[in-house]
Amino acid sequence: ATVYVPRDSSAVSLGAERVAEAIRREAAQRGVELKLVRNGSRGLYWAEPMVEVSTVAGRVAYGPVQPQDVPGLFDAGFLEGKSHALSLGATEEILYLKNQERLTNARVGITDPVSLEDYLSHDGYRGLKNALAMQPADIVKEVTDSGLRGRGGAAFPTGIKWNTVLNAPSDQKYIVCNADEGDSGTFSDRMIMEGDPFVLIEGMTIAGLAVGATQGYIYLRVEYPNALTILNEAIAAAYRAGYLGQSLCGSGKSFDLEVRVGAGAYVCGEETALLESLEGKRGLVRFKPPLPAIVGLFGKPTIVNNVISLASVPIILDKGGTHYRDFGMGRSRGTLPIQLAGNIKRPGLIEKAFGVTLREILYDYGGGSASGRPIRAVQVGGPLGAFLPESQFDTPLDYEAFAALWAVLGHGGIVAFDDTVDMARMARYAMEFCAAESCGKCTPCRIGSTRGVEVMDRIIANREHDKNLLLLRDLCDTMLGGSLCALGGMTPYPVLSALNHFPEDFGAAKPEAA
Ligand code: NAI
Ligand code: SF4
Repeated sequence: ATVYVPRDSSAVSLGAERVAEAIRREAAQRGVELKLVRNGSRGLYWAEPMVEVSTVAGRVAYGPVQPQDVPGLFDAGFLEGKSHALSLGATEEILYLKNQERLTNARVGITDPVSLEDYLSHDGYRGLKNALAMQPADIVKEVTDSGLRGRGGAAFPTGIKWNTVLNAPSDQKYIVCNADEGDSGTFSDRMIMEGDPFVLIEGMTIAGLAVGATQGYIYLRVEYPNALTILNEAIAAAYRAGYLGQSLCGSGKSFDLEVRVGAGAYVCGEETALLESLEGKRGLVRFKPPLPAIVGLFGKPTIVNNVISLASVPIILDKGGTHYRDFGMGRSRGTLPIQLAGNIKRPGLIEKAFGVTLREILYDYGGGSASGRPIRAVQVGGPLGAFLPESQFDTPLDYEAFAALWAVLGHGGIVAFDDTVDMARMARYAMEFCAAESCGKCTPCRIGSTRGVEVMDRIIANREHDKNLLLLRDLCDTMLGGSLCALGGMTPYPVLSALNHFPEDFGAAKPEAA
């Protein structure tokens, strides 16, 4: 039998390594032959470590499994897919998974992340094969037609960005993957890199062909050591098989790829600070314009795209831009890998076409709060995203619908809080986070965030409320309008949304009726 135990960091943090070891030991003791595959995670984090067994009827899942459960699983006949208290049934039939639309994450949790053969036998490198037979402008057009927008958070049309780089004349161009996934509550980049690294490698190679870049870099956050190991293994395998390096698949076109480990600062996820860091300098934000698409890494035209944007390219080149575009709503086309975390019963990765509502994600998938108390607020889009109250839970996940509420979808992270949350403290935390992570280049962010913490402290201590609330709004105005990058410029989102939706937590701002 083949048994799957994820090597994904979340599964490992919940004990997957010990479970794998226990299965090996138990099988040896019982003289049972089995093949143990260390796959990526299916993203059902509430069931990790989730062990799967392949049976004639497909894969069957058990979870969450702890080492002490292993002898019992053998006794129950789990290798034949038999029932046990931890049975989750046929993996593909688990509603959490079954009701998703997995395009970018199609292979995650299914294949062995570092097996190129497995990747190829699950439709891998079909996009690249098509791209190798196309003209650069036609590859860009396919991506433009797909409607794909930057999944790092800013949602800028990927095809338009690529077109700018394609049309920038230069002897050298670069593809840079932003894998500095720093947002709280997000893990979709990591899941791809640990669960299906070849899809990212393929996407970057296609990007190189599309704009005439022969060198790529993955800027990986230092906190992802497991992803580093897996990416490097996969890159080596791709080189050995001619999918990277000189003359890709014998085409005469070349593309080289390297992973660079990040500097451990949130601001290095900002694209220009990232480029500085990649060049070996301190991660300071650059002025824009010029855009990185024109003057990027080492002054050359550069595509800087998030992991998910690049990992969505292979399926677009395989099945066509129209196939991808058929998912979604309005101007938000395709799918979004949504990451559900915080005070939630069933946290995990849910890849869905745009248009699913926040409420469906929180309750149909998430099962409500882990504490069993009412969900009072959610923060969407990382630490710089707005808080949404219960009255906004019917909002569809769509970039424009969120913008209309003065909120952002960002990188698709959703963090839930129950009714014990103190929103004034959350607002203070946003200011504190900004003060800690500010690169210091501009005054509204560097000084404003520190003053913001002080104002919040006075508000929380109930001192001169009206004056301090006015000051807080003034400060937020300055940060919004005067910051050089999104770190200072977006910190007012969590602060003001907390104040506007939950004034009762800010003491004196309590409305008359309350
Ligand atoms: P932006 O709106 O300034 O730029 C978006 C992208 O489009 C950039 O790559 C920019 O260079 C490019 N661009 C703009 N006009 C262009 C043109 N005419 N041609 C070619 N390219 C063009 O946004 P920014 O500052 O890059 O990102 C802010 C976002 O980052 C926020 O909305 C936030 O959601 C997200 N974010 C994500 C984090 C994560 O961990 N994934 C962390 C922090 C923020
Ligand atoms: Fe640096 Fe903050 Fe200004 Fe961004 S907003 S450039 S992080 S000081």
